Amino acid sequence: MKSEFTERAHRLPAHGLGLSVDVYSPDLLELVRALRDAALEPDYLEIFKATTSAQQWMRQQLPDLKLTYHGEGLWSTQPEFCRSGSGRQGVAEACAQLAALRSAWLNHECATKQMAGYAFGTYLPPLYTELSARMTAENVAYLQSQVDQDAHRREIDPALVLLEMPPLTYFGCGALPIPDFFRAVTDQASCGLVLDIGHLWTVYRYTGSWQRQRLEEFAAQFLDAFPMERVIEIHVAGLAELTIPHASGIDASGNALPYWIDAHGAPIPGVLFDLLAQVLSHPGLTSLKGVALEVDTKPIAMIVEEFKQFRERFGTTVQAMLHRDSPAPVQPQRSPNARSAERRQLTSEEEATLQQQYRHYVQLVTTQDDLSSIRNLSLLGGSLDDLNRYRETYLPHELLHWGGELQDMFPDTCRALTESDVPLDRFVAVWFSKPRPEQDDYDFFLLKIDRFVEFATHACPTAAMIVMREAEELRAAYRQANEPIGSSRVRA
Ligand SMILES: [Fe+2]
Repeated sequence: MKSEFTERAHRLPAHGLGLSVDVYSPDLLELVRALRDAALEPDYLEIFKATTSAQQWMRQQLPDLKLTYHGEGLWSTQPEFCRSGSGRQGVAEACAQLAALRSAWLNHECATKQMAGYAFGTYLPPLYTELSARMTAENVAYLQSQVDQDAHRREIDPALVLLEMPPLTYFGCGALPIPDFFRAVTDQASCGLVLDIGHLWTVYRYTGSWQRQRLEEFAAQFLDAFPMERVIEIHVAGLAELTIPHASGIDASGNALPYWIDAHGAPIPGVLFDLLAQVLSHPGLTSLKGVALEVDTKPIAMIVEEFKQFRERFGTTVQAMLHRDSPAPVQPQRSPNARSAERRQLTSEEEATLQQQYRHYVQLVTTQDDLSSIRNLSLLGGSLDDLNRYRETYLPHELLHWGGELQDMFPDTCRALTESDVPLDRFVAVWFSKPRPEQDDYDFFLLKIDRFVEFATHACPTAAMIVMREAEELRAAYRQANEPIGSSRVRA
């Protein structure tokens, strides 16, 4: 695995200091103009999934810029990934967009928004267990083979698949420490990795480490255990509290710590740039090709200012790292059982066990059952209070307000529900009441429309005609907004 990765990584050109962006939010060409006006042209742009025609158009508009691809909808942590229709469709779309951008890599969160037939609006991290790491490695190897075959057909250089360590939104689940999980994946697959500095902060915050160690100490230990030699790209994005600030905790040095979560539109806190400096000085970081600020949904003026500061502080260091003579590849520390796990596919029993664990995971995060009733699952060191924050605050917010405010989407239906004394938050329980057959293409906005129609017609039959009319209007407006180069996803 190491030599295949090393060979692929060696072929990737240095990308430099870039931005991870969205085609529309903010308008990408407007952003590039603003950066050029400020003499701050980025070395590369990593563009989030849009339509293939939008990516082709961007390629034409920005002919001299390196463009890379941030995929979405490839749920490679999940047991169904290789055989599902949505998996196959997602892979085909990703290949088309990689080709459109002429991207050197395919970055994807090592996370999912669909699990055991249940859909979520934002990413959930994988189960951090040995079995789950093996499943992920198997799926990522499949994904890479599909990307390679497609590139061969198109006669282009194949992109390297990168897995990004996802954020924790208040909790993590499983007993395998996160660096060990990624070590187990890279022991079995030749993928690269993306290390997101804000995500790393959330691991410190929501695995309980903040109560025992200072951030620098935690990061030093984490980075020593993490497969740093596989890190191709580093991301830095904003962090913010969800809504009203909660009462903050107290860390080992007596300072209050906020309940920050990943928030690309929010300012990047200074603590993350200090953490970036620590990461860049780690001797294991031998394959780095690019460092990007992730700035979708952020105001252009703030992006320009942050990119300026970022370049001033890190430009020379990063360029020197990317253009130094490649050191001898560091021999990765293999996990003790790596040799026996290598290339060993999951048996059907193991896959069934993992599927069952993911059903339990859904139960854990969506219901108020206590942990003892859910077998074989543990928190990754955080507190039950933090899991409850996800269940009671984040999840309802995601379904009622995020990716489409229900009150704005369905004003007449919401009025009818209020008149019939049907509380809107009942929608959350209905959403998770049963697993659904596989969706062809994950689209949270369209999913939300379909489910809300079901909910409203069932909870308030007199509102049936109203909700169907409003739903049809929304779908029509959405189709129109997505032509000719529209996006079909909400990023988080
Ligand atoms: Fe990221």
